[in-house]
Amino acid sequence: MKHFWYKNAIIYSLDVETFMDSDGDGIGDFAGLTNRLDYLSGLGITCLWLLPFYPSPNRDNGYDVMDYYSVDPRLGTLGDFVEFMHEAKERGIRVIIDLVVNHTSDQHPWFQAARSDKNSKYRDYYVWSENPPEKPQAELIFPGEQDSIWEYDEQAGAYYLHNFYKEQPDLNISNPAVREEIWKIMGFWLELGVSGFRIDAAPYLIEPYGIDNPDMKQLCSFLPQMREFVAERRGDAILLAEANVAPDKIPVYFGNGDRMQMLFSFLLNQHLFLGLARKEAASISEGLKLLPEIPHTGEWLNFIRHHDELTLDQLSEDERKEIFAAFAPEENMQIYGRGIRRRLPPMLGGDPRYVKLVYSLLLSLPGTPLLRYGDEIGMGDDLSLEGRTSVRTVMQWSGEKNGGFSTAPQEALAQPIISKGEYGYERVNVIDQQRDPNSLLNWMERLIRTRKQYPEFGKGKWRILETDHSSVFAHCCEWENRAIIALHNLADQACTVTIKSNDCKMKHPIEVLADHEYEPLDGDLNSIQLEAYGYRWFRVSSVG
Ligand code: GLC
Repeated sequence: MKHFWYKNAIIYSLDVETFMDSDGDGIGDFAGLTNRLDYLSGLGITCLWLLPFYPSPNRDNGYDVMDYYSVDPRLGTLGDFVEFMHEAKERGIRVIIDLVVNHTSDQHPWFQAARSDKNSKYRDYYVWSENPPEKPQAELIFPGEQDSIWEYDEQAGAYYLHNFYKEQPDLNISNPAVREEIWKIMGFWLELGVSGFRIDAAPYLIEPYGIDNPDMKQLCSFLPQMREFVAERRGDAILLAEANVAPDKIPVYFGNGDRMQMLFSFLLNQHLFLGLARKEAASISEGLKLLPEIPHTGEWLNFIRHHDELTLDQLSEDERKEIFAAFAPEENMQIYGRGIRRRLPPMLGGDPRYVKLVYSLLLSLPGTPLLRYGDEIGMGDDLSLEGRTSVRTVMQWSGEKNGGFSTAPQEALAQPIISKGEYGYERVNVIDQQRDPNSLLNWMERLIRTRKQYPEFGKGKWRILETDHSSVFAHCCEWENRAIIALHNLADQACTVTIKSNDCKMKHPIEVLADHEYEPLDGDLNSIQLEAYGYRWFRVSSVG
């Protein structure tokens, strides 16, 4: 089947606030982003995921929403949003936005009304308790930054539930009036042209965390209802859930194709890092094998890093330690006892071969790839910043003041710019890399272009191919009589590999991407050379 646009998409996530400032106040805005759409279109991305841009006290980087129907005045107006949407559409770029409805900000008028009047209709929009049960410390989302999931509110005379920060009271999803509000919010943005939503904190929407006597029937019907609503309003819109859950919980989110279309592939992400740390393909294969069959309309969103910590919570303590030892050996590089707060290139010691290997893997793994602003130029992190903000520094456009992000004084920037060291904006920026044919940016454009020509990666059936080298991850994706094979050498030693013949009877390989100019193969997939951290993709013409 040819449709399902999201199965051959290249998704790029950004925070408007840190992407491009058009008016010199130090804060990125919609006008700035609109000016950079040609850059994004040149890069080849097909869909943008915008982090929350709603009015917010910004306790949690905008994930604490004060008004669902508006744009944070620091970023522009609704008019600017519509102009941006129009220009994105002109360039064939779709837009999905963050839908943060597990909780509101405590400054939201609903919460203000709920806390000040027991009889207000908004009281039941939230979850209250006179004597809340204790939640074990180990289960807190932000250990060290949060000490409970219940907060006593003087005005309300009761405790309210907040699975995240205390400034983010949880909405009571079992209340039908809350659901109606959520549909209305979704309807509003769909009417303005968005192609879907990233469903923030999806497990907390349907699991009765912290709720006594939950209405399970109501909770379980929530995802299909959401899908039904979106399908009726806009048939091609997608729901992409942030659900970092164990394999047996995954079917809850896809259903029979009647719930979410996409899920972030947290399991594969964590196993990918395990494979990199061990230089062993088996861990990546294991990550893929853990994923259950999903409906034909479903798709995985593969990613390397995003705006949060790289969480390793689905691995064992020993596995986590191995990854920490390889990529985040210092305590300051780790967070919440389970994750890493670094960007990829510094984790890999800045080795460009290694960085490219990982993005080549990302773009060829079964599913749809997600890139994050700055990945394409190899931006670094700033570990002197607090918590997760280490990876949220502003975009580095040029070697000019503030990396060309803004003309404001440096102290006025929404988030700091990396100005020193190997990853400082004078060394790592878009303009310089556009001029350099050998830059990561130009390589990334080629990688994206190639990936889009092989929809079998996103739409096809995948198979792992056994090789005679434990460090080589090899797989094949087949779709509509087309097939592509990719090999990735996770080790820093060159090797020559052979795919076991009973795994692969494919012939006539045509090389479509490689880290290096290799000798052409003689028609069979035997004795394939791979440099240290080398990768090769082959289009194979006959499947037998
Ligand atoms: C999601 C976001 C994260 C935020 C949290 C609470 O996990 O990715 O940044 O803190 O939800 O909304």
